[in-house]
Amino acid sequence: MSGPLLAIDNLQVKFSRNEDEVCAVNGVSFSINENETLGIVGESGSGKSVTLMSSIGLLRENGKITAGTAMFQGRDLLKLKPKQLEDIRGRDIGVVFQDPMTSLNPVMRIGDQIMEAMLTHHYVSRKEAFERTLHLLHEMGIPDPKARFKNYPHEFSGGMRQRIMIAIALACEPQLLIADEPTTALDVTVQMQILALLQELRSKRGMSVVMVTHDFGVATNFCDKIIVMYGGQIMEVAKTEQFIRETAHPYSIGLKRSIIEVGQRGKEIMPIPGVSKSLTEIPTSCSFAPRCSFATERCLRELPKLRAFGGDHQIACHHAEEVVSLAK
Ligand SMILES: Nc1ncnc2c1ncn2[C@@H]1O[C@H](COP(=O)(O)OP(=O)(O)OP(=O)(O)O)[C@@H](O)[C@H]1O
Ligand code: SF4
Ligand SMILES: [Mg+2]
Repeated sequence: MSGPLLAIDNLQVKFSRNEDEVCAVNGVSFSINENETLGIVGESGSGKSVTLMSSIGLLRENGKITAGTAMFQGRDLLKLKPKQLEDIRGRDIGVVFQDPMTSLNPVMRIGDQIMEAMLTHHYVSRKEAFERTLHLLHEMGIPDPKARFKNYPHEFSGGMRQRIMIAIALACEPQLLIADEPTTALDVTVQMQILALLQELRSKRGMSVVMVTHDFGVATNFCDKIIVMYGGQIMEVAKTEQFIRETAHPYSIGLKRSIIEVGQRGKEIMPIPGVSKSLTEIPTSCSFAPRCSFATERCLRELPKLRAFGGDHQIACHHAEEVVSLAK
């Protein structure tokens, strides 16, 4: 296939909240290629989940997509009917959520839940689905798959439940896996095991992964490309090595500086001083300006657009060149 596997262009998502309308995602564009792992980082409320979930039709009732396209295999996901999206989700695009307990059915045996994922999409026959489920459980590192097939979600640890969620997401061998903070709720050892498993499966199957994470260490260790979001917009996009070498957006620089090391816990994003701007107005200035030490009068009157900053590096900042030279 030529071109990206998924290309999101100018996505805008709004929510109605009481009397207000909140613009949670404003003009987000990015793409993911085959065999690529993309990490989306940014503080809480920056629009990471809404960006991903709205593009696959998992938007809350009070939300609406007001602009944009999300091209996947030649089709715009944003124009598809709910049933068509259901067919794509689970078959071509696997989804892993942060908390497996809210996504797994507590009264259904886990083996049946994995089989159901295959049978719903008429992926294989019932007999094949059973064999494949045992194989998947084995691949996920769940010991004694035949016995564990019959267990219910509460009979597993958090890490094992997350593995089961991944097994369900991978049941139909999707080309793209969307994982929204797949390991945040887990302790660090289990987190590392799951990420290593995901990486192994990704290279074995040649699939692409978009992963939302709060953890910079996870993003830089596991992803080929990094997107930094702030206030519903993309602030920086770069290949990981480029991002490590030449972080250019004041917000990303702040995030990198605020990384803390807590023993083995890895590198977590800590808040940067200041408050985020309200999302009720569509910004006409840089949304990071109230917290930015590089802000000028131009930043207050002109919204910086995402622009090329050498090679594949993109940045939404009027003064990135000066910022980089000062940061050196
Ligand atoms: N159903 C909703 N109704 C109103 N506002 C919403 C709704 N869902 C999300 N939002 C708002 O949209 C913005 C982006 O939310 P989103 O969940 O994408 O953030 P996030 O970057 O994933 O944060 P986190 O790291 O906490 O998961 C937030 O300001 C949030 O309050
Ligand atoms: S555009 Fe201005 S306010 Fe925004 S990040 Fe760049 S320097 Fe800071
Ligand atoms: Mg989220």
